[in-house]
Amino acid sequence: MIVTIDGPAGAGKSTVARALAQRLGFAYLDTGAMYRAVALAALQRGVDWTQPDALAQLARQIQIEFQNDRVLLDGADVTEAIRDWKITQITPYVADNVEVRKRLIELQHRFCQGRNIVTEGRDQGTLVFPEAECKIFLTASAEERARRRLAELQARGESATLEEVLAAQQRRDQEDASRPFGRLTRAPDAVEAPTDGLSITEVVDRLADLVRRRQQEMVRSSCPCCPPESSHADINHGNTSKI
Ligand code: C5P
Repeated sequence: MIVTIDGPAGAGKSTVARALAQRLGFAYLDTGAMYRAVALAALQRGVDWTQPDALAQLARQIQIEFQNDRVLLDGADVTEAIRDWKITQITPYVADNVEVRKRLIELQHRFCQGRNIVTEGRDQGTLVFPEAECKIFLTASAEERARRRLAELQARGESATLEEVLAAQQRRDQEDASRPFGRLTRAPDAVEAPTDGLSITEVVDRLADLVRRRQQEMVRSSCPCCPPESSHADINHGNTSKI
């Protein structure tokens, strides 16, 4: 079963997706880490990230792997390095590069094949896994997202003001929404999950419940002796498309 979680920066996707995967006993894929790893590789190798062809070539050469919770770039652990502010600034060049996106999508398909998995990013439920059995669109207000991002930066000893974080976030939202290939948008069959005022545990509880209902639905729909599904509407159809 493939569970996709998409949403804007700072909505809490990584934290929620990792915890949800753990709760369900599913594997977990952080696709943003892949875009960040390409940006880091460009920086390390002196590749001009403003040159689309050079970046596309680089994406085909490098090896990105996930080992437990660690991200490996050509065998080296880059889990912390890819979160650096400089990498965040380079990553939009990577994300806007159609050839790089195609390469990373190929790797994402390979990684998820035959697995029960929670995969998170911007385009997972739309472009990468349009056939996913359970799609979630995680949101939070701009202020809440900026506050979370600021707390994260401060925890890492980086200094910024809420206004700076809000401005940077607005730019990223704009970039994510306007990308011609792989832009951030809610899939029509995705369940919207607003997270303002909820703890991580509360969000994960609701999403785990949603996935389990979806699993039951799948079992029932493939069972010849069960009546046709009637609770389908409260999962991801019609007007009740929110958790
Ligand atoms: O989620 P995270 O902030 O780590 O993503 C890093 C960057 O990669 C973001 O700028 C985002 O726009 C981009 N991204 C993307 N498609 C994905 C995941 C992330 O374009 N599936």
